[in-house]
Amino acid sequence: MERDDKKLQAHYEGHPADISLDDVDLDRLPRHITIIMDGNGRWATSRGLSRAEGHRAGVDSLRETITACVRLGIDYLSCYAFSTENWGRPQQEVELLMQLFAVTLENELPLFDQENVRLEFLGDIDALPEEVRDTFHRGLERTKGYTGMTLALAVNYGARAEIARAARLIAQDVADGRLAPADVDEQAIASRLYTADMPDPDLLIRTSGELRLSNYLLWQLAYSEFYATDVYWPDFDRYELLRAIRAYQNRNRRFGKVAS
Ligand code: IPE
Ligand code: IPE
Ligand code: MG
Repeated sequence: MERDDKKLQAHYEGHPADISLDDVDLDRLPRHITIIMDGNGRWATSRGLSRAEGHRAGVDSLRETITACVRLGIDYLSCYAFSTENWGRPQQEVELLMQLFAVTLENELPLFDQENVRLEFLGDIDALPEEVRDTFHRGLERTKGYTGMTLALAVNYGARAEIARAARLIAQDVADGRLAPADVDEQAIASRLYTADMPDPDLLIRTSGELRLSNYLLWQLAYSEFYATDVYWPDFDRYELLRAIRAYQNRNRRFGKVAS
């Protein structure tokens, strides 16, 4: 994606002592960054606030991260917002999150217009409450022609469900005679995942210190670099993002081969 260097420098003015734009190589940025946004509840509890307040603060972090990625010229940003397992939370929390998704998406549309951000969703969004589903479809429609960063929000997403769905689609194509069993290869599966038109993530960030995937992008993360930070999601900001990118750039991605 094209980068406005002046805007980028201005965005990162007043950086903390340990990290600045000079610490990352702007010519070797990850093309696709994906984030498991975790720790809203613990952030809130540690401040004596309700979990709801944590989720609201998490929205601010998401906006901050979207803007920072746009400034850096990242092509794809994907974020895990709600898993298929999160339905098991107390009904009140689920309802709050659903409402937050609808309201937030509506509120952020001007930002997507302004920054040329194209929206995508990973997951079964048609199974979401009507208001959320309608808002999401409006967002898709409104941003579909945008050519800047792609923002993919994983909502009602589960990687196992996604792979099972791909298998179902393949089975149907085989049953209908459109696909021969011998042609079921990696590409046949990848092209039936929600991420079909996106490159695999280069960098996975998980906040709040947890070291697990929680059913996220099991297929797509095969060769991604993992970065875990203890920072809770509401405390994640443009500098935390730079720290993650710096760590990523210090890795040696071998893809099963010998170091070059
Ligand atoms: C992440 O924060 C947001 C969602 C899963 C929706 P959590 O709500 O999981 O926060 P913790 O992990 O309980 O602190
Ligand atoms: C993963 O976080 C899902 C999202 C961030 C949306 P969880 O908080 O649901 O994951 P676990 O329960 O700690 O594995
Ligand atoms: Mg959590």
